[in-house]
Amino acid sequence: MHLRKVWANIGKSSYPIYIGKGVCESIGRLMRDIGLGGKCAIVTNRTVWNLHGDGVEDALLSMGYDVYVLRVPDGEACKSLDVAVQLYEELINREFDRSSVILALGGGSIGDIAGFVAATYMRGINLVQVPTTLLAQVDAAIGGKVAINHPRGKNLIGTFYQPRMVLIDIKFLKSLSTRDIRSGLAEIVKYGAILNGDFFYFVKENWEKIISLRDRELLYAIEMSCRIKVRIVEKDERDERGIRALLNFGHTVGHALESAYHYSKLRHGEAVSIGMCYEALISVKMGLAKEHVYRELVHVLEEIGLPVRLSDDVDLEELIERMRHDKKALDGEIRMALPKDIGEGIFVNNVPIEVIREALRI
Ligand code: GLY
Repeated sequence: MHLRKVWANIGKSSYPIYIGKGVCESIGRLMRDIGLGGKCAIVTNRTVWNLHGDGVEDALLSMGYDVYVLRVPDGEACKSLDVAVQLYEELINREFDRSSVILALGGGSIGDIAGFVAATYMRGINLVQVPTTLLAQVDAAIGGKVAINHPRGKNLIGTFYQPRMVLIDIKFLKSLSTRDIRSGLAEIVKYGAILNGDFFYFVKENWEKIISLRDRELLYAIEMSCRIKVRIVEKDERDERGIRALLNFGHTVGHALESAYHYSKLRHGEAVSIGMCYEALISVKMGLAKEHVYRELVHVLEEIGLPVRLSDDVDLEELIERMRHDKKALDGEIRMALPKDIGEGIFVNNVPIEVIREALRI
């Protein structure tokens, strides 16, 4: 099996990201190679466990780990303080200590709750991220953002906590719907659009192969996404310098839209796809980007089958109000990562409300 490796060089918290097909069969050995042993709690949910649990458990047992399976509710519901407290109880009952490991097996929500608990239990124990959705493989599992929700906001309680290792197995993706693969592809397009033009045009040429899970193109797209994200996180781990914020291209409008729909109607990637189109248009209207940047982006996303327009049921003023309360906003000023060209972005403070309003009306 050919194993791709991306190294995240984040000082004392540096770690390898392994990418391959069937790589989860080697997880026990790869964890041993970086000095992890002893107790391992797999944090997962029923759906993921039924699909992929046995393989991961066997790979750990065969390398001598004491394996415990801790199930949390499906979906976003697992990201609560109540669930975190239940997980702390389980870890205390099983006498987990700082040499033990928490392994997050699942999508972005699982990575978030498992990561949050790993970051806080005994002031931090070993965390291994094993993302099972394309969205989590190219984004959520990389870079150490972990959080739970508060009734008054998504991801309101959280921290930065880098894993010891990330293991990406494309075999997991076979069980996903095309809609979920498309949603992950939106984040892949984002990396190209805002940070790497060559990669954007690679995705433009190869998106059909990626969606149909052709090994070569899929592995390349995941590896490149990880490399692009890691280079950004290395420069601005804690999102303080306006560099990591570039990864939020499409997310200011996208997050506002998701929350307006109470996180139901749209997948995250779909909201980001719509968000990227409007934010590219805002960039054109601000004179930062040429019209072709907007057109090119809309064209690619539309071809892929992602949504590119707001539907009529969206209240634009409500959307703008939500943007003003985004975590990235400062003193009510809306800040956005905007493209200047395909593959080149800039983080802009104080994007004028009138320009946003004008773009959203199109
Ligand atoms: N998903 C954006 C970031 O990790 O910074």
